[in-house]
Amino acid sequence: MLKEQFLLPEDKVYMCGHSLGPCFKNLPEALNGTLTMYAKQGVLSWETDWIKLSAQVSESLAALIGAKSNEVVVTDSTSINLYRVLKACLAMKPKRQKILTTQDNFPADLYIADGVAEVVMVPEHQLIDHLDESICVLMLTHVNYRSSAVIDCETINQKAHQYGIFTVWDLSHSVGIVPLDMASSGIDFAVGCTYKYLSGGPGSPAFIYAYEKHHASMQTPIQGWMGHQKPFEFDADYQSKGIKQFLGGTPPIFSLQALATALGHFDAGLIVRLYEQAKVYTETLSQTLMSLELEVLEADRRGGHIAFCHPNGYGISQAMIANGVICDYRAPNLVRLCVNPLYLTTQDLDACIHHLVAILYHKYYLHAKFNTRKEVT
Ligand SMILES: Cc1ncc(COP(=O)(O)O)c(C=O)c1O
Repeated sequence: MLKEQFLLPEDKVYMCGHSLGPCFKNLPEALNGTLTMYAKQGVLSWETDWIKLSAQVSESLAALIGAKSNEVVVTDSTSINLYRVLKACLAMKPKRQKILTTQDNFPADLYIADGVAEVVMVPEHQLIDHLDESICVLMLTHVNYRSSAVIDCETINQKAHQYGIFTVWDLSHSVGIVPLDMASSGIDFAVGCTYKYLSGGPGSPAFIYAYEKHHASMQTPIQGWMGHQKPFEFDADYQSKGIKQFLGGTPPIFSLQALATALGHFDAGLIVRLYEQAKVYTETLSQTLMSLELEVLEADRRGGHIAFCHPNGYGISQAMIANGVICDYRAPNLVRLCVNPLYLTTQDLDACIHHLVAILYHKYYLHAKFNTRKEVT
């Protein structure tokens, strides 16, 4: 829908936005502006523009996800933010020190949870049976990073609240492609990446959402000075309240500027349209994949990508990339294809199908050059 506004890798079909969204055309100019300001004004740039940037970006993001502007901050990485939020929840209910989650949740989230509490991992369909008053947090990822399956927030949140459980959601694979409305979702806390569907740039800062109702009782475990009520008073005592307490240290201005520039392209209406078109694309791809006798994951409700299994998944992903279709692989046998209509056209989708059919038919994926494992997959 906005393909002409992107700088896409030349002669490639970009189907990896679930990992890293491509670069907006106006990004180099925006970053150059920041660089020029830095060169011309040095430290004085903080006063004129930079100190406000974090709040501005947080406000834009809040508007996109149907949250109030005082409920969102953009800072650090999803992993760090998840740590903050989980620790804050555990501190609010000290008698409950268990986190309930799905066994196929994103491993990085499981690692963070495991570092802070006892983790109970169950298949998604058994979650409801495990809700009880010993659980502090129900930690879920809205769109599964492998299957792309979407979990229905409202229903499970309501059930969790019946037992006084906090709900913490990872929205990394949702924000920018699946319409979100924090106000009606029943989500207590959320975190998420901005470098995937929002194209904020590699390593762009992540976000935290905290429902206003919890602001009076929550306490951040990392008392960063940028979250202090008056950071430049350099008071020996830490004082902060509300969502701002989740801010850490000095914000990464180049990354924040990149994200601010990317967010300038989005509004909630665009995300609704993107999701509708993504469903059309995933349906087309799913029909094709099934006709090729591939096992396609999750048919009911998908996010912005589609995944299929094949014992030679790695070889297929590498052969696809060599043929100009940028996709990725997740061990042990999964190929993921992102169908973001923001920059993917029906012609691109046809090209993807054309190459996939040829690769499978000729078994190009068996070629040795497509089977040497790279460090990053
Ligand atoms: C669902 C999900 N959660 C968390 C993360 C971790 O994000 P970060 O590496 O930015 O902390 C990722 C990264 O891909 C992810 O996909």
